[in-house]
Amino acid sequence: MSKDTLTITDNRTGRTYEVPIESGTVRAMDLRSIKVSDEDFGLMSYDPGYMNTASCKSTITFTDGDKGILRYRGYPIEQLAQHSSFLEVAYLLYFGTLPEPDEFVRWDHGIRYHTMIHEGIKQFLNGFRYDAHPMGILVSTVAALATFYPESKKVFDADVRRIQFYRLVAKMPTLAAFAYRHRMGMPYVYPDNSLGYAENFLNMTFHGSEPSSTRPPDFEHSPVLARALDTLFLLHADHEQNCSTSSIRMVGSAQTDPYTAVSAAAAALYGPLHGGANEAVLRMLKEIGSTAGVPEYVKQVKAGERKLFGFGHRVYKSYDPRARVIKTCADKVFEVMGRNPLIDVAIELERIALEDEYFIKRKLYPNVDFYSGLIYEAIGFPTEMFPVLFAIPRTPGWYSQWQEHLTDPDQKLARPRQIYLGETVRDVPRRDG
Ligand code: CMC
Repeated sequence: MSKDTLTITDNRTGRTYEVPIESGTVRAMDLRSIKVSDEDFGLMSYDPGYMNTASCKSTITFTDGDKGILRYRGYPIEQLAQHSSFLEVAYLLYFGTLPEPDEFVRWDHGIRYHTMIHEGIKQFLNGFRYDAHPMGILVSTVAALATFYPESKKVFDADVRRIQFYRLVAKMPTLAAFAYRHRMGMPYVYPDNSLGYAENFLNMTFHGSEPSSTRPPDFEHSPVLARALDTLFLLHADHEQNCSTSSIRMVGSAQTDPYTAVSAAAAALYGPLHGGANEAVLRMLKEIGSTAGVPEYVKQVKAGERKLFGFGHRVYKSYDPRARVIKTCADKVFEVMGRNPLIDVAIELERIALEDEYFIKRKLYPNVDFYSGLIYEAIGFPTEMFPVLFAIPRTPGWYSQWQEHLTDPDQKLARPRQIYLGETVRDVPRRDG
């Protein structure tokens, strides 16, 4: 008998089955032949929240939650954060290799060339209420891009896919900045393609709005802030099969165009348990107010009355490696912008939580969202912009995963099964007269 198999005995029938094991998994479809009778549908696996189900094979991102490892295409996240830029990483995720210098020049030029959005999008933006949440605006406007680029429907054309990749990576910051300006009632600032990716985004967002008390006069071009934002973008670029990435794979399996598919991923990201957590962290820290409020808050978390946002992760059962890098970014930003007083509350919260049996037992550690919001706030972004700041850099990750799914011969239209527990069949009551 081959060693790479699983032998299953069905105690209902006494029959034995041998199922192949490949890369540490068994195929759920192999369970289907396990039946009690010919009419039986066959055995299924039940896995709410996909806690133990591999939905795809991937070569993009590797995580080891117990060891706190994150690698893009084999490169450790810490090394990329130190030596690479967000755009290099976006290239890496999509094309599979880090760009050579001449490749990078062409790639960078291509991104700068595609930053403009059609003027029609501005009309669309103006339809939103003055206080519309920028993530709601982003989700809608990125979907609207599909109507401006109808050729994007040709999802099996590799050249078409590549052009939409350039467009999406380039236009997300523009859409995000315009969403912010709309909310602030400020005129839109067009992309300045002489600026780098993060710098351009900062300029489109804040140009002409610097309150001199909180921001240095050369705010738009502060290399420290642009570099910090670029690093944060790089750290958020992909994270294998999370909720939003699984969403884009699922939507993409219906061969939907990439703009609509990215919009679906952004919608998933919006939720407070996923990309909305950085917003929730800031609200939580503000509510706690000072280090004196930390013990009471932790008590409420342990009593199950509250959640400690920015803590815990489905994958990481040790310190999130992204959180470590972000902590060092925070210090650099605070040097330029002044120290965010809430950092003391965050540090105290982390200190108490990491010593507490409740968090130790459940392996709850700070995740990527715990410190990122403090940096965003120090730069001057309102909390509503935080999930938007997650969606911009996650776009190359989503797109690369969407493409991988689409071109994987193993994949089909995603369509899970259910365990139906409702009424079997009953007649509609007659209500005559
Ligand atoms: N605060 C307090 N208790 C928690 C927390 C938390 N943040 N996270 C998990 N727990 C407890 C939970 O109550 C449960 O306790 P018990 O065993 O007594 O019932 C135990 O830890 C296991 O939790 P779980 O809900 O089964 O774990 P999960 O893997 O389903 O949850 C999570 C992962 C991220 C949804 C959860 O940790 C959470 O809600 N964290 C706060 C939100 C957050 O920061 N999300 C951002 C995640 S990182 C960004 C991203 O990649 O999306």
